[in-house]
Amino acid sequence: MCGIVAYIGEKEAFKVLIKGLKRLEYRGYDSAGIALINNKETNIYKCQGKVSDLENMVKDLDISGNIGMGHTRWATHGEPSDKNAHPHESMNKYFTIIHNGIIENYSKLRKSLEKENYKFTSETDTEVLANLIEYVYLKAKKEKKTISAREAVRTALNSVNGAYGLVISCKDFPEKIIAARKGSPLVIGISNNEYFIASDASPIIEYTNSVIYLNDDDIAVIGKNGLNLKNIKNIIKTPHIQKIDLKLDEIEKNGYEHYMLKEIYEQPRAISDTYRGRLNYESKFLRLGGLHNVFKNLKDAKKIIIVACGTSWHAGLVGEYLFEDFTRIPTEVEYASEFRYRKPIINKGDIVIAISQSGETADTLAAIRMAKKLGAIVIGVCNVVGSSIPRETFAGVYTHAGPEIGVASTKAFTTQITVLTMMAMSVGLANKTLSKEQFNSLVEELYLIPKKITQILKKAEQIQKIAHIIKDSTNSLYLGRGYLFPVALEGALKLKEISYIHAEGYPAAEMKHGPIALIDEKMPVIVLATKDKSYEKIISNIEEVKARKGIIIAIVTEGDESIKKIADHIIEIPYTDFSLAPLLTVIPLQLLSYYIAVMRGCNVDQPRNLAKSVTVE
Ligand code: AGP
Ligand code: GLU
Repeated sequence: MCGIVAYIGEKEAFKVLIKGLKRLEYRGYDSAGIALINNKETNIYKCQGKVSDLENMVKDLDISGNIGMGHTRWATHGEPSDKNAHPHESMNKYFTIIHNGIIENYSKLRKSLEKENYKFTSETDTEVLANLIEYVYLKAKKEKKTISAREAVRTALNSVNGAYGLVISCKDFPEKIIAARKGSPLVIGISNNEYFIASDASPIIEYTNSVIYLNDDDIAVIGKNGLNLKNIKNIIKTPHIQKIDLKLDEIEKNGYEHYMLKEIYEQPRAISDTYRGRLNYESKFLRLGGLHNVFKNLKDAKKIIIVACGTSWHAGLVGEYLFEDFTRIPTEVEYASEFRYRKPIINKGDIVIAISQSGETADTLAAIRMAKKLGAIVIGVCNVVGSSIPRETFAGVYTHAGPEIGVASTKAFTTQITVLTMMAMSVGLANKTLSKEQFNSLVEELYLIPKKITQILKKAEQIQKIAHIIKDSTNSLYLGRGYLFPVALEGALKLKEISYIHAEGYPAAEMKHGPIALIDEKMPVIVLATKDKSYEKIISNIEEVKARKGIIIAIVTEGDESIKKIADHIIEIPYTDFSLAPLLTVIPLQLLSYYIAVMRGCNVDQPRNLAKSVTVE
């Protein structure tokens, strides 16, 4: 999920690696490391912290070598620490590896390797892969069937489930490096007798614009005298060399103008990464490993309290609908800042779920500490591995959204809802308050969400046009019912925080109890009106707005003919189960606020007065 750079050629590798890792810093990370290969010697330097910390660490050390690899880590397995940083070496030091991605079946592989007397120095899934490759390699040697390093890698990868971008070296072949890709991108830059490997083109572009984009299942062996490519089935492949004409400044956001837009577009991948290895489509199997030690308490809970702030609080509101719908366990959602100063009624064994992208929000952290003191069992839903909240909760489920750099939360919101949906589904199934048929249908629908979001993202131009029409408004109203009421709140927050237009989210029926007084021909009213049980009611609400000349922008289910007749603008999105509708209906609202903010010349990624993580009260 974070950053890879590798080099083989005539230059001093160290300079290329460090400069390259700095080009990848925009992706967000928590640790950095390099391996420099000098004939048979491999020097590994790594630390939790920034690339600059790594540079300071190696000031007086041997950084020679024309071959090397560098990594910036975004922890998924094992908290950020020096020992969990990459590169990782196999136990007998035959293989050195850096990895972007997640090895889903790492736990099973680790247990098998431990039975073969393999020892581990870290908690990462990556080290498991390093030892697996070595095990395959040495086993063949022992059986006098010596194999190449690539063959050991290929054989090992055939036992791996998950996503990876890998660079691997073997001490028996010090003049070569291996690159393999499945799910996490890798680019190989080609220049005169030198090769550059990286997660994207930004570390490469200043040296060459001739590149090969590895495809899933590709395994390349790169040496000073050339590159050859096979796939995981051992079929030889012809490398496709192409020219890239990207300018460096574009690349750092992968071609997106802002991190927020990049992160909006990352949501299909982020959601599939969040259910990857937990939800299985074929077997309809769902297992949240992080809840293992509290699952019985969760399923038997008398009450669930969700505490969070901001966008995470909105995700918590969706969670309330999900838990009460699927599990029939009374669930309430509290602003962490309010919860911690009230005398909430918490009985021993009650469940408190703390939701936080950063895992560092002061109010949420304080709420957790109070809840624990009152005897609650606290579960975390966080995006940053090893942050404070996961360390202070009894159990938890990480979102695998990858680093969220834009201050306005987008992919964190949808991945939080994905986690809450899976939690509610697993408890509902266990309590039989959700039938197996309902469960299976939800699994199928959840698997389709990334593709449906991709379809919605294709409507960006249409949404941009609508943004243009309402960009000069001073106020706006967002309306939704049921599961979509929290999405109305989230849409309003997005608009407020990045375009500085005042926006309010309301349950649609509440409009008559006051806000309707605000509606006139200057007021855009964004209505979430997809097909669900309150569809007829929401049409009446739209009529009420129309009668007062409000500008109606409606998010509707594809093919909706009724609302098309009364709304000023409609954005059609694919159908999904109403309990999953938040995952789709929020996408147009994210794009709408983004485009309005850009048109208003606002600082989209760092809006005024806001911080990405509110670590103060
Ligand atoms: C959302 O766009 C804001 N950046 C803000 O409301 C944020 O959701 C809130 O501060 C909570 O942050 P957390 O999820 O890191 O705890
Ligand atoms: N899953 C690996 C780890 O946690 C790699 C994470 C990454 O992509 O940086 O170390």
